[in-house]
Amino acid sequence: MEARGYHVAVVGATGAVGQQMLNTLEKRNFPISKLTLLSSERSAGKKVTFRDVEYTVQTATPDSFEGVQIALFSAGGSVSKELAPEAVKRGAIVVDNTSAYRMDENVPLVVPEVNEDALKDHKGIIANPNCSTIQMVVALEPLRKQFGLNKVIVSTYQAVSGAGAAAINELKEQSQSILNGESFSPEILPVKGDEKHYQIAFNAIPQIDKFQDNGFTFEEMKMINETKKIMNMSDLHVAATCVRLPVETGHSESVYVEVDELNVSADQVKELLKESDGITLQDDPSQQIYPMPADCVGKNDVFVGRIRKDLDRDNGFHMWIVSDNLLKGAAWNSVQIAESLVKLQLV
Ligand SMILES: NC(=O)c1ccc[n+]([C@@H]2O[C@H](COP(=O)([O-])OP(=O)(O)OC[C@H]3O[C@@H](n4cnc5c(N)ncnc54)[C@H](OP(=O)(O)O)[C@@H]3O)[C@@H](O)[C@H]2O)c1
Repeated sequence: MEARGYHVAVVGATGAVGQQMLNTLEKRNFPISKLTLLSSERSAGKKVTFRDVEYTVQTATPDSFEGVQIALFSAGGSVSKELAPEAVKRGAIVVDNTSAYRMDENVPLVVPEVNEDALKDHKGIIANPNCSTIQMVVALEPLRKQFGLNKVIVSTYQAVSGAGAAAINELKEQSQSILNGESFSPEILPVKGDEKHYQIAFNAIPQIDKFQDNGFTFEEMKMINETKKIMNMSDLHVAATCVRLPVETGHSESVYVEVDELNVSADQVKELLKESDGITLQDDPSQQIYPMPADCVGKNDVFVGRIRKDLDRDNGFHMWIVSDNLLKGAAWNSVQIAESLVKLQLV
């Protein structure tokens, strides 16, 4: 590790994820010798304080990456497509939070608890998986290692912060309008840029991202394809239904899995997950203890509870997985990747 640290750039520094990246870099005391904060022209000139020093946000251009060693991107797919190769050309390693490169076979898709070693094959760009996928694979990997895994069926209950800062504002303003008996017009959710927009306050919307021809949404297909890539299991059966809820931060998931081994007990699964990296087990029905988004906000771990054996299938288990989508689902996983790069002497 360099004595004074690294020149780090955060692209999308003014966004929901970018702000959490800065908080996480600060909390983890990541070794930084120089920090470059980038956004679109809209936020250029804005002042941001990091470790008691005031920084001015700049418009992201190819030349912004001169001298940058680690660039954390969370400014949308089109920005990553345009600027990540420019950053790499100038010698930076890019950790990209968007979906631009996740399924590119030359780009490792990394959750350090699951496939840290894949970082060794990087060619400049490393992709950070989709938020709902990350928290799920952290809980699936110990099961795969110990008992083998063949089927996963997940339904998500996702927070609005997963759709960015504008969606958080929409939930708050709409809730206030409804409580005040005022009219409102949905403009962001379920998908900015799609034809119709629906009320999110006091509602549940079974659409995250646009629909594909096969009836699944892009978010659902991200969970399916990314899970197989991260776990290196092209034959794993995965199905997903993704739903947006009026929760500000913290994604929840009801997950059904089938393991290869027979005669595994729910207690064995609990013991295993309790000892696994990055997981906090919260599972005691007798005391009404289970994970909830409101308790997980601001924490890096993935929280697992409600573990029970299926009543019909001996190898089937149900569980409830919750995590802060802006932290483990985005900023913390990215900073964790940067820490792994330093640890493995890849930067
Ligand atoms: N939210 C999540 O849970 C989550 C999780 C994983 C991945 N992601 C991904 O991370 C990305 C950002 O998400 P977010 O939730 O932080 O969105 P957000 O709150 O809307 O923030 C977007 C950020 O990108 C910047 N930006 C927009 N256009 C740009 C451009 N042309 N050039 C440079 N910067 C530009 C914005 O700058 P201005 O202030 O100038 O507009 C802002 O800093 C998305 O691709 C999203 O899919 C989000």
